[in-house]
Amino acid sequence: MIDASHATPHDSRAAPRIDGVDLQALAERIPTPFYAYSASAIRDRIASLQRALQGVDALICYAVKANSSLAVLNLMHEHGVGADIVSAGELWRALRAGIPPERIVFSGVGKSEEEIAEALSAKILRFNVESHEELLTLQQVAASLGITARAAVRINPDVDALTHAKISTGKAENKFGVSIEEARRWFAEKEALSHVQLDGLHVHIGSQILSLDPFREAFKRVAQFWRELEAVGHAIASIDAGGGLGVRYREGHDHPVDAAAYVAVVRDALAGFTGRLLFEPGRYLVAEAGVLLTRVIRIKHGEQRKFLVLDSAMNDLQRPSLYDAWHDIVPVHGETRAMTEYDIVGPVCETGDTFARARAMPECAAGDLLMIRTTGAYGASMASTYNSRPLVAEVLLDRGRYAVVRQRQSFEDMIAGEQPARHWETA
Ligand code: LLP
Repeated sequence: MIDASHATPHDSRAAPRIDGVDLQALAERIPTPFYAYSASAIRDRIASLQRALQGVDALICYAVKANSSLAVLNLMHEHGVGADIVSAGELWRALRAGIPPERIVFSGVGKSEEEIAEALSAKILRFNVESHEELLTLQQVAASLGITARAAVRINPDVDALTHAKISTGKAENKFGVSIEEARRWFAEKEALSHVQLDGLHVHIGSQILSLDPFREAFKRVAQFWRELEAVGHAIASIDAGGGLGVRYREGHDHPVDAAAYVAVVRDALAGFTGRLLFEPGRYLVAEAGVLLTRVIRIKHGEQRKFLVLDSAMNDLQRPSLYDAWHDIVPVHGETRAMTEYDIVGPVCETGDTFARARAMPECAAGDLLMIRTTGAYGASMASTYNSRPLVAEVLLDRGRYAVVRQRQSFEDMIAGEQPARHWETA
């Protein structure tokens, strides 16, 4: 639990401390920009979901893509949380963090034969299969290895998740999953699959969902299908409810649903289901636990606007430029200053490198430390080296202590693997 001195990133006052660590002092030691994650806040989120699932045969498989830091994966593992992976790289990270293969599920529309073979050899729990072509590849690779793959069909329930179009996945037009009609055919023909045990259902309709209604609708459709399958003798061992739980990006504006209400919706829809429930939350577990600490390089007085130029940029945090996402941005000094309006931008040479437009802020000065909140998910994991800015550093905070869990990349690291074209060959 977090006590008053372990202020979370979402305390309404400007919080100079997170998880008991003084942010000003921290930024004296570690050059900005860097991400800081509160271990206590992550543990709180894990605990609240686990509490909501008490008495249910359930496994939480954290969506690694949200924040794939080994330190975060270690925390998940310590608390019995498994992993939802979408690539061989994520499989490798999850195993490296000690997550047992029997707690790993593999999602994604583009699993390659090599990735399938690696996951089969690692003996992961289950594949969430997204197309008939993938199902046949899974069968063929599993047969060649003499291993039986456990599989769930990812249902595309054609439900509008009422979220940003780029992170919506459960509409018929999206690339994810298959229709119930198609899934019905898979089950009817499953005896032909000698090395695939098709006995699971999976659904994930999108991300940053702030209403229970889309979940209710999707789970209702999946539950109906599960009952239909059971009635004709297809046993379903597990139903995977996916991820998607929204978080608060904008104080006083976003009202996320709580874990208990969400679990109640799942349980209600799937009443009578005696198999195992899987969950794949990403953002819910880590987003609000993280901030991006950044300093003001300078204030530029443009012709029409005042620009607050930060030392972090779209390569460190892509969400605002990619999804027009709102992130609260607050000074760390905690002083009361007159309010003004800024366009808050990074140094990257693109107009899209904008964190916020016409944002009301206390007046800032060069050197001020700011935090960009709710950046624990899809922040560092989506960072790049665009404009040859080395990958951003990450720090874990825990009850008054901190540990650097990713060094800022050096220039040498940044060009690792590159070379001038000296050795020409023909193919
Ligand atoms: N399961 C599957 C199959 C997924 O595709 C995803 C996320 C999750 C679980 C976890 O979803 P969550 O609980 O985090 O909402 N970069 C975007 C989000 C992309 C989400 C992709 N899939 C963003 O920054 O908003």
